[in-house]
Amino acid sequence: MLDFKEIISEKISQIVGVDSKEIKGYIEVPPDKNMGDYAFPCFRLAKSLKKAPPAIAEEIKEKLEFDKNLISKFDVQGGYLNFFVNSEALVKEVLGEINKFKENYGSSYIGQNKNIIVEYSSPNIAKPFHIGHLRNTIIGNCLYKVYKFLGYNVTGINHLGDYGTQFGKLIEGYKRWGDEYDISRDPINELTKIYIRINEACKEDEEVLEACRENFKKLEEGDDYCVELWNWFKKESLKEFQRIYDLLGVKFDSLNGESFYSDKMDEVVEILDKNKVTKMSQGAKIVDLEDKGLGVCIIRKSDNSSIYATRDLAAIKYRANTYDFDKCLYVVAYEQALHFKQIFEVAKYLEIPEKCVNGLEHVQYGMTRLSTGKMSTREGTAIKVNDLLEEAISRTTKIIEEKNPDMVDKEENAKKIGIGAIVFNNLSNTIIKDQVFDWDNVLSFQGDTGPYIQYVYVRTKGVLENVGDIPKFEDIDTSCLLDSSAVQVATTLYKFGDVLKSVTDKNEPSLLARYLLELAQDYTVFYNEDKVLVDDEKVKNARAFLTYCVQTVIKIGSSLLGMEMPTKM
Ligand code: ARG
Repeated sequence: MLDFKEIISEKISQIVGVDSKEIKGYIEVPPDKNMGDYAFPCFRLAKSLKKAPPAIAEEIKEKLEFDKNLISKFDVQGGYLNFFVNSEALVKEVLGEINKFKENYGSSYIGQNKNIIVEYSSPNIAKPFHIGHLRNTIIGNCLYKVYKFLGYNVTGINHLGDYGTQFGKLIEGYKRWGDEYDISRDPINELTKIYIRINEACKEDEEVLEACRENFKKLEEGDDYCVELWNWFKKESLKEFQRIYDLLGVKFDSLNGESFYSDKMDEVVEILDKNKVTKMSQGAKIVDLEDKGLGVCIIRKSDNSSIYATRDLAAIKYRANTYDFDKCLYVVAYEQALHFKQIFEVAKYLEIPEKCVNGLEHVQYGMTRLSTGKMSTREGTAIKVNDLLEEAISRTTKIIEEKNPDMVDKEENAKKIGIGAIVFNNLSNTIIKDQVFDWDNVLSFQGDTGPYIQYVYVRTKGVLENVGDIPKFEDIDTSCLLDSSAVQVATTLYKFGDVLKSVTDKNEPSLLARYLLELAQDYTVFYNEDKVLVDDEKVKNARAFLTYCVQTVIKIGSSLLGMEMPTKM
């Protein structure tokens, strides 16, 4: 695709003798459209050229020359050079590209030969899949898909929490009271009850706690009874998780969770010992990170059992060997920031390639609160994600029943809208921010919501159905699309590929969600101002084709977010 930024930066580069890639990196999009499509901030060169930015701007301007069919105008404003892209060139280019690439518009090869691991979801077995894991799954799924679309070789890993002392506890609770609970009917809930009860017992009686620890040790040593129970817990949990993944349309390449590393930790501890980074403290083996302000990272507890961090270190070593990753992203709530700082620090001593050490990254996201108040597993006030998703669908069904009772594919559409609403809600703001969950906001057909995007999509569908066949690009007269609302739509369509790149640069899916809102809004303005179904065939065809382009990009972008499009609304 014609790269206007590149055209501008190459010209400036020739004039000032600075690498054009560097110049391109400085080019901005002005906050106000009237100031131009692109701006070059001359203060970036002030130091090396030893001149004031406005003087630099004037000097460059004197020497600049562009093909008017590409860059129609440029001017100086203070220390900035502003550029106006030729609208017709832009419209023609973007329509031609979408026509050419269709559902692959915006994809690229920039990720070729780069290995990326996205670790996401990672719920704990025998515990409820909570609303935080839902957000995690949605964020990770989006990053996974966008990296893939940009040509990266991506591996999606669900690092199941399927190991640790809590399983010693659960086994103990099951031994004591298993008969009292109807586990096969509702496994996770019943096991959670047992878990809460055994935790209470541990608090009261040190001997119970000791028995739990003993169980986990036995599990680590491969004791038949413990392993069998644990396998059963895991199987039942995975069944329940799978229902959620199916509803969301989420898949993983690997389900290697914590237990997978149970036989891979000794090696890691040996390497750390050999590199003299471990020491003993109160019977435990630790890495002291106090001098880096990161406290102490426990590697082995005093009974020699492993902990969460040990398993994560073994996972880093294993992933470096197996996937030779350039980036390993951990989508995990910000509460675990210290944990990841610690293991990333210790990873420096694991004898893995430098690029792997540098590629470790914690993608942090904020908490979700219900508008009705906080929730906790212990008090039993946490909503179950399965119920939440089902409720989203049933609420949507009710809305459809009221608004459009005769809709075809009612069930299928209710599912797409309900789930889409939840997905979009989780991605519509900067992911690090905490968010409040409120049904009315989530399901609204207006505002910053998934249903709004879907609504605009369905509108484009309706428009195109009325037009009949989508006109051929070759027959389109792009000069019919030069009014401001059409150009605005084209400008937004043009940005799509850049937005996807920025999603991966910042690991920030909300950039894509915000982009889709912008596109939907631009199209709504266009739709209201420029009626598509006019008598003039030339105008009608051009506007219909632009509508088709919007539909295509909304569909691609939404699918990358993890949101499907309904046929009707
Ligand atoms: N299972 C953990 C939890 O639910 C998250 C695991 C995060 N990933 C990791 N490699 N530590 O809190």
